[in-house]
Amino acid sequence: MIEIKNFSISYDFELIKPSSCRFERNKYTALVGDSGIGKTSILKAIGFLYDGFEGSIIINGRSNDKKSISRENIAYCFQDSVIYPTMSIYDNILIGAKCKGIKCKYNNEEINALCNYLDLKFDLNQEGLNLSGGEKQKVNFLRAYILEPDILILDEPMSAMDRGSKIKVKKLLMELKKKSTIIHVSHDDFEYEGLVDKKMKIINKFLVS
Ligand SMILES: Nc1ncnc2c1ncn2[C@@H]1O[C@H](COP(=O)(O)OP(=O)(O)OP(=O)(O)O)[C@@H](O)[C@H]1O
Ligand SMILES: [Mg+2]
Repeated sequence: MIEIKNFSISYDFELIKPSSCRFERNKYTALVGDSGIGKTSILKAIGFLYDGFEGSIIINGRSNDKKSISRENIAYCFQDSVIYPTMSIYDNILIGAKCKGIKCKYNNEEINALCNYLDLKFDLNQEGLNLSGGEKQKVNFLRAYILEPDILILDEPMSAMDRGSKIKVKKLLMELKKKSTIIHVSHDDFEYEGLVDKKMKIINKFLVS
């Protein structure tokens, strides 16, 4: 479970006013709000990528200070896809597991099958350089998906995908949802429709559940 207590963020302006809420274990939460309202900032704080907030974030009973990072299996799908252009597509998918020092639960054949399912039907040994926007998002999603993380943070993970691809990704999320706590930011409610247990909003600078 992720507990947020008296949590606020100020940069050189006030972004989020003191708010408290919780993300229950193995529940799927959609986090919504207008552009620039602070969704990515909150996700970064939960994902250990920003620690300049006030208040506390407690994950499975532990405060999310830097020392806790290695203990939690958190996967993060960034709003701007991260692709290493000179690395193969295959290695781009595996890089998350490698960085975390986790043995990937999926073998080559299974990764090929996942790629095929998501219509990444080309030689995975070629460099990631020429992937399209939607393809980059699929690679980013699979990088996080194969970790089977305890916590999955999705920041507009399908924004560049066509409807058919979104449906396929949703089917994978439906499986993952059984064993992961998922937080999904999106401007398109179709992306989390049928998956979501709870919706959170940022209204007037407050995080409201
Ligand atoms: N590290 C930072 N320092 C200063 N300002 C920042 C920083 N990070 C984000 N901001 C600003 O905070 C505001 C909220 O940004 P954030 O990325 O959290 O919004 P968002 O809700 O994710 O928006 P979108 O839906 O467009 O992705 C923006 O005005 C942004 O420019
Ligand atoms: Mg954002």
